[in-house]
Amino acid sequence: MTKYIVQGGKPLFGEVEISGAKNAAVAIIPAALMVDGVCRIENLPQISDVTMSLKILENLGAQIRVVNRHTVEIDSTCIRSTRTDYELARKIRASYYLIGALLGRFGHGEVAMPGGCNFGGVRPIDLHVKGFTSLGAKVTVEGGFIRAAADRPRLKGANIYLDVVSVGATMNIMMAAAMAEGNTVIENAAREPHIVDLANFLNSMGANIRGAGTDTIKIRGVDRLRGGSYAIIPDQIEAGTYMAAAAAAGGQILVKNIIPKHMDCITAKLQECGVEVEEHEDTLLVRRNGPLRRANIKTLPYPGFPTDMQPQITTVLSLAQGISLVTESVWSSRYRYVDELRRMGASIQVDDKTAVVEGVDHLVGAPIQASDLRAGAALVIAALAARGQSEISCVHYIERGYENLVEKLR
Ligand code: EPZ
Repeated sequence: MTKYIVQGGKPLFGEVEISGAKNAAVAIIPAALMVDGVCRIENLPQISDVTMSLKILENLGAQIRVVNRHTVEIDSTCIRSTRTDYELARKIRASYYLIGALLGRFGHGEVAMPGGCNFGGVRPIDLHVKGFTSLGAKVTVEGGFIRAAADRPRLKGANIYLDVVSVGATMNIMMAAAMAEGNTVIENAAREPHIVDLANFLNSMGANIRGAGTDTIKIRGVDRLRGGSYAIIPDQIEAGTYMAAAAAAGGQILVKNIIPKHMDCITAKLQECGVEVEEHEDTLLVRRNGPLRRANIKTLPYPGFPTDMQPQITTVLSLAQGISLVTESVWSSRYRYVDELRRMGASIQVDDKTAVVEGVDHLVGAPIQASDLRAGAALVIAALAARGQSEISCVHYIERGYENLVEKLR
């Protein structure tokens, strides 16, 4: 098991190039199987979740040509099966997007129950099922597989209301409806940047999707999706993670290849904590050399403060003067990493969905263990800021979602 050995206590200086968005890539790759033609996808992050997603498509019969580290061409014309490999699919959370894509194009699909990061809370898919059922598919779960099959040659468009704002359900229903007969409306849809990215990808392949990025998405079903090329947006959470690292460790870094609009909430919160952030065309200059100030955080669906930045910002607040309150309102629990921060001297009390963070003067390096992707990122941030050496284990979680983290930090 790989470990990171971090000598902490040194401010960060330099530049970091942000990679393509993980949560866009893990939806756009499954969407490529809906296209009977060649999809060229650029700016893919080089992370294990992407590698795994591509393997699953290949296993279904898609032809995949690796053009370079960040570009692939996927030809799904001759896909011969709609039943994904159990062992491959159960390794990643995002495998459930394959159901929406397979159902959307072929009218049926069988996918292993998803695996992926389990940060404490349950991760239901009832809204995905509700969407598929509304479109005329029958969904059953048995033997570890989720099976979805349309009861007619083509799915039929429908009006679907999501009572909980769900990124996964919004994306999955968008794919299933893209080639359905007639119109579909998704209400109370999630608005994350990666939702817009998926809609833009599908539209560039010939779909007709309007309103992505708002809470109402309108989809007019088309008969087929043809080939095309598409570049994935930069990763808002990867960028936020490096900004939080500079906030906690101090110093000055230039974060390159970002979309400033996507960073608004993270930028505003870090500025509230006393971090200077200068915004330019596609870069942010992040500087912290004074004391960190306390702040309150409540995670919300986009454009609110992202839940995927909660562990990272809580780590920053553990070094801020005063008492900060962090409320996790998206997931039922996402504080498993706090025990590890306590080993480093953090003073954090967790009560159900709220963490009370009492800032300390400094953290001290220790042997710590990552429990999921963003928790692992938070521990790296803590280790960079802490005095002395930290040893982080289970870093495979981190490498699921961060391309070349060690090289970028160096
Ligand atoms: C996506 O997960 C992301 N994963 C998560 O990022 C992210 O935390 C989450 O969106 C919220 O932004 C991927 O994109 C692969 P949801 P997803 O459906 O789609 C409830 C990371 O770190 N819900 O928006 O699974 C659910 O319990 C990962 O990159 C239902 O009740 O999240 C949660 O409370 C971790 N029923 C809330 O909705 C459902 O059918 C939001 O979940 C689906 C979800």
